[in-house]
Amino acid sequence: MTDRDTDQAHDLFELLRKRRMHRRLTGEPVPKEAIEKLVWAAGRAPAGGNARMRNLLVVTDPAVLTTLRQVTPSFGATGASAVIVLCTDTGTALREMGTLGRDVLSLVDAGAAAANITLVAAALGLGVCFVRSSNDAALGAVLDMPATVRADLLIAIGWPVPAPLPAAHRSSPPIFWNSFATGSGGDHK
Ligand SMILES: Cc1cc2nc3c(=O)[nH]c(=O)nc-3n(C[C@H](O)[C@H](O)[C@H](O)COP(=O)(O)O)c2cc1C
Repeated sequence: MTDRDTDQAHDLFELLRKRRMHRRLTGEPVPKEAIEKLVWAAGRAPAGGNARMRNLLVVTDPAVLTTLRQVTPSFGATGASAVIVLCTDTGTALREMGTLGRDVLSLVDAGAAAANITLVAAALGLGVCFVRSSNDAALGAVLDMPATVRADLLIAIGWPVPAPLPAAHRSSPPIFWNSFATGSGGDHK
């Protein structure tokens, strides 16, 4: 590893450490170039079978954002100036990867894309908050979504307020080595 590689690895660990959900955003617009970086990051995520089932919908129209928030009960963030909706084209997923692709791999892919967006957002100083819609019918109507396109995850984006609420407490998942029979050995840092 060169010194530059080491610096970049350090940056990545720092981003992983500082990333969090931001539920209080200022409402200031996010430049299009920044949103394009987030979209690019999503496209760099691994995808099951390298299938082309991911669709991204970017919402920046304030009126649409307001309606989106109204029809999405779990939309926890205030002041978001953009939302990226990670969608699956279920027809393509089914054709290329079968029911496993449509029902499982596509959701894993959405998570991978979302994680990439989260890290790039942290690098740009942006705040994001994931939102899982609990009203798919209303969401589809607001966004004119074709019946075959499924919204997997909404990502609210904006600039964090200067003094955000404390981040959620995170504990490390139990880790088992080689077999569940050995036990987890408690929290690992
Ligand atoms: C699949 C998924 C769905 C989520 N849905 C919501 C949601 O609807 N509303 C919300 O406020 N947060 C949502 N979150 C964010 C989690 O609550 C958050 O990641 C968790 O509390 C840990 O906090 P942190 O990301 O700030 O470390 C979701 C996260 C994931 C991975």
